[in-house]
Amino acid sequence: MDNGVIQKPGFDWYRIENETWSSLNENELKEVSIAGKQIGILKQKEKLHAFAANCPHAGVPLCSGWLDAQGRIVCPKHKFRFDPANGRNTSGEGYKLYTYASVVRGNELWVYMSGGTF
Ligand code: FES
Repeated sequence: MDNGVIQKPGFDWYRIENETWSSLNENELKEVSIAGKQIGILKQKEKLHAFAANCPHAGVPLCSGWLDAQGRIVCPKHKFRFDPANGRNTSGEGYKLYTYASVVRGNELWVYMSGGTF
């Protein structure tokens, strides 16, 4: 167990502890800690999205932002928009939000953290 997260030895998939699929509200931005890193998670249209918690523009916490009508994350500082599925900067400023692969197994949330270095 590491900071509320269980790491399977030999794997890079981390289960998000204290969060379950059924406990997440649809379209609610939530920041969690995985292996000492802050990431944002979002349940949207029966998919789990995981992304860097801080905006790639100036580091503002994105989970204090909101979603636009198309379900894109809107940063609260300068209102840049990001697609939570792929990190694309849909408002066109040229930034890229880092996203993580994620899956739901039963009621458990898993996030892939590449090689333990991220
Ligand atoms: S800090 Fe997010 S858009 Fe500037």
